[in-house]
Amino acid sequence: MKGILLAGGNGTRLYPLTRATNKHLMSIYDKPMIFYPLSTLMLAGIKEIALISSPKYLPLYKELLGDGKQLGISLTYIEQEKPEGIAQAFLLAEEFIGNDTVCLTLGDNIFYGDGFSKLLKECATLDKGGIVFGYHVNDPERYGVVDFDKKGNVIDIQEKPSIPKSNYAVPGIYFYDNSIIEISKSLKPSERGELEITDVNLAYLHRGELQVKIFGRGSAWLDTGTPESLLDASNFVGTLEKRQGNKIACLEEIAYKMGFISLDMLVQNISKMPKGEYKNYLVQLLESEQTNLVLATTV
Ligand code: TTP
Repeated sequence: MKGILLAGGNGTRLYPLTRATNKHLMSIYDKPMIFYPLSTLMLAGIKEIALISSPKYLPLYKELLGDGKQLGISLTYIEQEKPEGIAQAFLLAEEFIGNDTVCLTLGDNIFYGDGFSKLLKECATLDKGGIVFGYHVNDPERYGVVDFDKKGNVIDIQEKPSIPKSNYAVPGIYFYDNSIIEISKSLKPSERGELEITDVNLAYLHRGELQVKIFGRGSAWLDTGTPESLLDASNFVGTLEKRQGNKIACLEEIAYKMGFISLDMLVQNISKMPKGEYKNYLVQLLESEQTNLVLATTV
């Protein structure tokens, strides 16, 4: 399965923060926002990833993440001239996707929760149809909203409805088979001039090939598109990290734990980092891994 990180857009709701930079480079507590959705794809076990952003900001992402080798992944960069809808990503990435299945996640969506990695890995084994999620929110009218029948079957998904049929919004992570290419090509721009991801999901639904999995209330889905939600996300990450002493979306840690990089590569990564709290965290991880290795060889 290939991965797509969508990191373009206008970020108008964050103006003037976004006047001179791109939303997904902003900080969520102690790291750039893009680390979080990138970690989501890595936790799903996806190693071939395309990052899509505007021509103006793509060079900054290249500087931040490089070709991905240091994380044991391969990163491809694709330009989106104008933000003409989430589903446009599949047209722009057609060559990158090739004959594969694909997972797209939005650059401003953060997921966290027990069992989340396991769920992602299961979804990444998809071979037919599409998988999206439903998450109970207070303000469903801001999102694609799932409509269920009395038996709990999904009968419709409506984009930003003024009167939502349920509180279940569709978060910004989607898994599709290779029909995504053909479906995206058949889409027409909506009234707001965008190729809508909800239309993709409806196409799968009408084929009887869409699974909607519910994210339970013990899991967190945050989007970070407004000043308030940006602050909320930072506070959420900061609170958990300070309490647990573990980092959320530390890419080097995830790369090592997923088996994408060796201990030697982790050492190399750490040696290139400036002194600071992020480096200290990884040094601690390294020391405990080295102790474990010594223990394993002496037992
Ligand atoms: P939105 O939040 O809908 O749009 P935006 O990021 O431009 O923000 P605003 O509404 O404040 O102007 O986009 C959701 C995510 O998808 C976000 O991470 C940006 C990304 N995106 C693109 O990369 N290209 C697109 O064409 C669109 C519509 C969104």
